Amino acid sequence: MHSFQLLGLAAFGSLVAAAPTSELVKKSSCTFTSASAAKEGISKCSDIILKDIEVPAGETLDLAKAADGASGTTTFGYEEWDGPLIRLGGKGLTITQVDGALINGGGERWWDGKGTNGGKKKPKFMYVHDIEDSTIKGLQIKNTPVQAISVMATNVHLTDLTINNKEGDSKGGHNTDGFDISESNGVYITGATVYNQDDCLAINSGENIHFTGGYCSGGHGLSIGSVGGRSDNTVSNIHIEDSQIVDSANGVRIKTVYKKTGDVDNITYSNIKLSGISSYGVVIEQDYENSSPTGYPSNTIPIKDVTLDRITGSVDDDATRIYIICGDGSCSDWTWKDVEISGGKKSDKCEHVPSGASC
Ligand SMILES: *[C@@H]1O[C@H](CO)[C@@H](O)[C@H](O)[C@H]1NC(C)=O
Repeated sequence: MHSFQLLGLAAFGSLVAAAPTSELVKKSSCTFTSASAAKEGISKCSDIILKDIEVPAGETLDLAKAADGASGTTTFGYEEWDGPLIRLGGKGLTITQVDGALINGGGERWWDGKGTNGGKKKPKFMYVHDIEDSTIKGLQIKNTPVQAISVMATNVHLTDLTINNKEGDSKGGHNTDGFDISESNGVYITGATVYNQDDCLAINSGENIHFTGGYCSGGHGLSIGSVGGRSDNTVSNIHIEDSQIVDSANGVRIKTVYKKTGDVDNITYSNIKLSGISSYGVVIEQDYENSSPTGYPSNTIPIKDVTLDRITGSVDDDATRIYIICGDGSCSDWTWKDVEISGGKKSDKCEHVPSGASC
């Protein structure tokens, strides 16, 4: 096992940790104070300490060949580009951050209220792609330009991460998703804290994904989807539990795309507490087109085996407690118990609600 330590990474290029050399090789420790030195020297080191690095604008701090450890304060310049600012990849890595350190994306420099829909081109923050059997722990992240963490991985643990885009509420943060997961098998997110302006969690595809002990504030809720129209359109074996969603548009959300194909199967949400929900407490809909709900569902992406257990709390006065719009026969085998949401209103637009659930 190799481990990374990120200490006070302030703002970034891109961080990539990669395949370790043999476990038997004696570890060597290296300290880098510039991004280019880190990139060149990284493969010779098993313990990496990044100290006060300033990554030039538009560049990626690339630790793909790294074995072990990173710490220090890292800053990066301003450029309107796709990013990512940080890239982590590799096998058998443990990436941690020293207490009190902060990764400051400086996102306010890009925020213009438009997110990925226009305005400035904003770099993605962190890619956790091509990473296997690894743990990323304790990162404190602030102000991402747009989406924070994109996961395409196998057997990764994301433990005690904080994504704090609270300033985006007043400064134009938009599409600042917390975790976007696709094409993954085995993602375990434990103890996440997310303040943002879009989905706290969005699972577009993947299997065996667990999200537990999370706190989501200010965003769009704990979401599956939208599923459909991508290269992988299967979402299965998902367990989301013991989490709180506050001051958000939605609580529990599953959305599939109209007339596309795919599969959503074996989904459990348990012990989710809601408060200050402004649109829907629970929303499951099969009517998405061009990223928006239309009110016209199709039955082409079945949503099967959905367990909701202890979904409690309240929604705002003008919000809707539960909204379900399924295609004909495409929602089945749902088991709901102790779904007790107060406040707001009952929807009169639900369609094809399967037995086991109610609107
Ligand atoms: C359903 O998903 C859970 C993970 O949430 C998994 O433990 C379980 O084995 C899955 N059930 C089936 C029938 O695949």
